[in-house]
Amino acid sequence: MGFFITFEGIEGCGKSTQVKLLSEALNLEGFPCIATREPGGTYIGSKIREILLNPDHKGIAPQTELLLYAADRAQHIIELIKPALNDGKVVICDRFTDATVAYQGFGRRLDSSLINRLNEIASQGLLPDLTILLDCNVKIGIQRAMERNSKNKDIRDDRFEQEAMEFHDMVRNGYLAIAKEEPERVKVVDATKDIQSMHGEIWGIVNAFLRNNRT
Ligand SMILES: Nc1ncnc2c1ncn2[C@@H]1O[C@H](COP(=O)(O)OP(=O)(O)O)[C@@H](O)[C@H]1O
Ligand SMILES: [Mg+2]
Repeated sequence: MGFFITFEGIEGCGKSTQVKLLSEALNLEGFPCIATREPGGTYIGSKIREILLNPDHKGIAPQTELLLYAADRAQHIIELIKPALNDGKVVICDRFTDATVAYQGFGRRLDSSLINRLNEIASQGLLPDLTILLDCNVKIGIQRAMERNSKNKDIRDDRFEQEAMEFHDMVRNGYLAIAKEEPERVKVVDATKDIQSMHGEIWGIVNAFLRNNRT
């Protein structure tokens, strides 16, 4: 079995940036590795992603949103994540089940036992071996996401990026609560640092983890 590493955090905290740097570094060091994301890690998932993030889709009910994330995750686990782990690869995933707890649980206030049950069904019980939570305040994250989107004509603010600051605060607090519950699995990295310092810290965490868990 390979290793399953997930990245979590609010919009603009630097997940995509760090996933790319980590997967490049791991491949260079001889750890076969794939980087993927939720929603949208598969072809079917990319269709679900479009429904979920399209800012015109303001009418999506919280329950529908929850089920669409579960559907995306089920496809992702079956088609991509489990086969890659069975191949002995390191799988790095940009958002996973903790995002559902943080956004749909802490953000949308959906029932946590329902969320946990759905997460378990969708992921077939697979838990991340290691989760890197990039933490920064909401103002910094949203500012970065806005700047990123304005620099790239092909990106417009997605449905979540348009949520109120209070929503993002609840999500951030949700993530921090998860990290407090599971300090062994979830490592918090200060996302206000510069990109290279964050990468160095993440590299240290991942390296120690891979060395300690190599069979
Ligand atoms: N540590 C950092 N300091 C300053 N800007 C950053 C940092 N990390 C990422 N960025 C920039 O902020 C924007 C959002 O980063 P991104 O990786 O897309 O975040 P996420 O995937 O978490 O939404 C990008 O334009 C990126 O270049
Ligand atoms: Mg991203």
